[in-house]
Amino acid sequence: MKIMVIGGGGREHAVIRKLKENPEITTVYALPGNGGIAADAVCMPISATDIPAIVHFAQEAGIDYAVVTPDDPLALGCVDALEEIGVPCFGPRAEAAIIEGSKVFAKQLMKKYGIPTARYEVFEDVNAALKYLDDAPIPTVIKADGLALGKGVIIAQSREEAREAVVDMMQNAKFGKSGERIVIEEYLEGPEVSVLSFTDGKSVVPMVSSMDHKRVGDGDTGLNTGGMGTIAPNPYYTPAIAERCMREIFLPTIAAMNAEGRPFKGCLYFGLMLTAEGPKVIEYNCRFGDPETQVVLPLLESDLFTIMRAVSDGRLAETAVRFRDQSACCVILASQGYPEAYEKGFPLEIADTVRQKVFVAGAALKNGELVTSGGRVAGCTAVADTLPEAIEQAYAIAEQVHFSGAYCRRDIGQRALRAISEG
Ligand code: AMP
Ligand code: GLY
Repeated sequence: MKIMVIGGGGREHAVIRKLKENPEITTVYALPGNGGIAADAVCMPISATDIPAIVHFAQEAGIDYAVVTPDDPLALGCVDALEEIGVPCFGPRAEAAIIEGSKVFAKQLMKKYGIPTARYEVFEDVNAALKYLDDAPIPTVIKADGLALGKGVIIAQSREEAREAVVDMMQNAKFGKSGERIVIEEYLEGPEVSVLSFTDGKSVVPMVSSMDHKRVGDGDTGLNTGGMGTIAPNPYYTPAIAERCMREIFLPTIAAMNAEGRPFKGCLYFGLMLTAEGPKVIEYNCRFGDPETQVVLPLLESDLFTIMRAVSDGRLAETAVRFRDQSACCVILASQGYPEAYEKGFPLEIADTVRQKVFVAGAALKNGELVTSGGRVAGCTAVADTLPEAIEQAYAIAEQVHFSGAYCRRDIGQRALRAISEG
């Protein structure tokens, strides 16, 4: 079988390594992949958003199955276009990917179907939004409607900051068309949990829970990033909470998407906040999370390709999805300066002994040598029997990966350890 994976980050590297455990797969192409992924797949210089070129390549190469992981191609209808030429895919069609692509859609879906989330208002007019802020409770949360590279969410700690965010999005078009409509929502408090799930539109099978570390600095300080590290499972996500999420959030979401005529097939990511009133949805993503995937897939005991095909064929209910009873930790090594300006092109050295435990996110090949090419460069991932061991091993792996200006948070997993010790 020839398969292709669309995308080129650490998440795609983790997906590709896991897929390759299936002996039926003879060739994996990555579009575009990256310099590190090139060790595990044939990388083609085709952009993940160039749908016509992706479709053309699938035909030329005789691709048997496609996995579409990033949000942009999903929102652009990459799965629709590939299915049209008869290539089965893992990933939602555009009509379902809207659950991530439009925050207004997601909020209205939750309101209509009684799925717990933060209270909110939608605005298309800047003056109406500013007027609302006059008596909105502070802190308040301002969200651009559309995709904004993970930067379209502002937690405003003052009325002034809230007004500034609204003007930036709606008047100054800071996020382009994505900010023409905005959501202003209630600020929620509590531990955050990421739950990725497989769904074929009929059943939903949650994967092991995880915890992201979004801020750039230790102790959750500094700017928001794409994610500086993850651990799994998330100790806040107890079996009782999992059962409640299934009943109040996961199953109702799948049913709601069906009722809207937008059946969701693929990986549906639930970003949850465990508030005093119970679990609430912070966001949906229509895809695997990054870097959550780097800890979730190494814990998956079952065969990923078998599960993906069952999702495409609507046979998920009869397919085994088992996770190891272990823990994982992923520490991201980033370029100095990320998530703001950073330099690229530094030689990246990964010791042979840890190569299989490093997912490469941002590196290119230059004269056959790896050089850094992105903000997040490498995800150093360990699986162990306990979380403390996984954390220690992930940092030991990070010691074996070198490039000029490499930066990582030193406290990945510490909050989880505190949660465990506090019971
Ligand atoms: P997102 O880019 O949608 O993942 O949001 C970024 C982060 O903003 C989330 O991970 C939360 O930490 C935070 N956030 C989003 N919505 C809320 C909310 N209503 N209350 C508190 N924090 C929020
Ligand atoms: N780590 C969060 C995301 O993938 O959106």
